[in-house]
Amino acid sequence: MSTTYKIAVFPGDGIGKEIVPQAVRVMKEVGNKYNIGVDLEEALVGGSAIDEYGIPLPEKSLQLALNSEAVLLGAVGGPKWEGLDYSIRPERALLGLREKLGLFANLRPARLFSALVDASTLKREVIEGIDIVVIRELTGGIYFGKPRGIEKADGQERGINTEVYTTYEIERIARLAFNVARGRSKKLCSVDKANVLESSELWRRVVNTVHKDYQDIELSHMYVDNCSMQLIRNPKQFDVILTNNMFGDILSDEAAMLTGSIGMLPSASLGGEVGMYEPIHGSAPDIAGQNKANPIATILSVGMMFKYSFGMEIVFTDIDAAVNKVLNKGYRTADIYSAGNKLVGTKEMTDLILDELI
Ligand code: IPM
Ligand code: MG
Repeated sequence: MSTTYKIAVFPGDGIGKEIVPQAVRVMKEVGNKYNIGVDLEEALVGGSAIDEYGIPLPEKSLQLALNSEAVLLGAVGGPKWEGLDYSIRPERALLGLREKLGLFANLRPARLFSALVDASTLKREVIEGIDIVVIRELTGGIYFGKPRGIEKADGQERGINTEVYTTYEIERIARLAFNVARGRSKKLCSVDKANVLESSELWRRVVNTVHKDYQDIELSHMYVDNCSMQLIRNPKQFDVILTNNMFGDILSDEAAMLTGSIGMLPSASLGGEVGMYEPIHGSAPDIAGQNKANPIATILSVGMMFKYSFGMEIVFTDIDAAVNKVLNKGYRTADIYSAGNKLVGTKEMTDLILDELI
């Protein structure tokens, strides 16, 4: 008898509603091919949930996630919900899921498909062969620290957020990062702002302590401002980057541009019993509903789901190879298009990838 996995599907908002159904087609296809049952159940999160229920993460959706083996998410947010209080904005759905599922580790691989070497704004020789993983701490730091809020003080208002990390939080993400580095080129760069922030001083100290258990890994430390410069100047010096929640948010967008488009970057959020998989890009309201969005980041996220949640790296490799072939044949969505290539839409790009998967 074949295994069946229960997967929660949250398209979310904007282009999320277009790319997720396409990624689901890929999921079903690889399910058939490898004789794995995928039991999919969809629910609302983000702005769509606000419209229907008044809150971004309805209990029903959260319970669905908690009772599944993995979550596939599109994107949340859009101008329609921008004026809302922070506590009920679409983005809270994402943050709530990360928190409630205990997903403290976010893996964001920035790899360049060789066919896209000219899609980047950077020079070919700088980015050729780029293969970096940003490991972002995902449930701590300034995103979740208390106190937070906006208070009245002396006739003014004061906005407050708190960057806070405990030994335990740093230790577990550092261990995970060292383990990932061990499976790659055994190089880890920890990024912080230890010249200014105490939370970073502790971060660096704990990472150094954990390193004692990983003497085979070459560890370096870098300040975040320098790292953002080095990523553009000479990205090939990096293999695995470990960093906190806020710096990881910023550096992973930057790393994405080395690969040609943010529409290419998948992610895996791990650490709890249920993994969550999503493209790193947002809901792109400007192109939503036009069949223009690049589905590849979400399709590759499905690959990561099979690799990390179901232990089937072969499915990841298969999907990855299919994407590579389609790109090599010159098909491009608008975000990665350049003259001489064949422009296709969201659905057509997926059709092409499915053809290669059979
Ligand atoms: C990301 C996004 C989110 C974040 C937003 C949408 C809350 O930018 O996943 O990188 O800041 O973490
Ligand atoms: Mg981000």
